[in-house]
Amino acid sequence: MQGQCAPLLDFMESGSRLGGRPAARIREVSEAETSSQTHAVRLRQATLEDVEVLNLWWSSALYTGEFNDFGKVTRPPVDKSIRENGLVGEDRGTLVVERVADLKPIGTVSWRQVRYGPNPESCAWNIGISLVPEARRQGFGSQAQRLLADYLFATTSANRVEAATDVENLAEQRALEKAGFSRDGVLRGAQYRAGTWRDVAMYSVVRRIDSR
Ligand SMILES: CC(C)(COP(=O)(O)OP(=O)(O)OC[C@H]1O[C@@H](n2cnc3c(N)ncnc32)[C@H](O)[C@@H]1OP(=O)(O)O)[C@@H](O)C(=O)NCCC(=O)NCCS
Repeated sequence: MQGQCAPLLDFMESGSRLGGRPAARIREVSEAETSSQTHAVRLRQATLEDVEVLNLWWSSALYTGEFNDFGKVTRPPVDKSIRENGLVGEDRGTLVVERVADLKPIGTVSWRQVRYGPNPESCAWNIGISLVPEARRQGFGSQAQRLLADYLFATTSANRVEAATDVENLAEQRALEKAGFSRDGVLRGAQYRAGTWRDVAMYSVVRRIDSR
């Protein structure tokens, strides 16, 4: 049984896309469809054709970026995960960011459930993003995160979508602001990366305040 926060998986069937020219069948995400008409990227579910590129991206900080470099992370084989659930589960997920102009995959967005209380209403989504170096600084990152927040609000009952990033990651902080996120504050010493504890800036969009 799905929790209050869980994505309604039917809305993200294999081959469906958010942004650009979305599949007609995902009518439930009409808000995302409308807002995506001027977007240069869209989000789609991973397929087995993405296995090679995902393995490449997730094997090197060259692709994921220094602020996503947590050393060697053990994860199940990508092809197995795609076969199992297309990388979209009840409490987490990953979508491919695709450039609309040439349908080229340029990165991934992901989300996982976080809880601020024991009741189902108190769960939120914490999102992350990684674009390949050549796709950065062209507005794609802010658009992709906006689309992801729209998708999570359209398909779940969560009231909050948040993103945390190193206080030194100015590009991500700016991209989140452009995507409509507000800065909540700084979590001191929250993240261990590259041999030391780091402060992270927390950003969020709140459904009932930011009227999504
Ligand atoms: C962070 C990331 C997602 C941002 O996406 P992006 O497509 O590059 O971002 P956008 O082009 O939408 O916006 C970036 C903004 O930051 C600004 N910016 C970029 N580098 C900057 C820097 N070093 N200092 C200050 N501002 C910076 C850009 O000028 C732009 O703002 P503007 O449009 O007002 O000029 C992308 O750079 C990326 O994937 N980086 C590596 C992975 C990563 O750090 N992920 C987040 C980890 S929590």
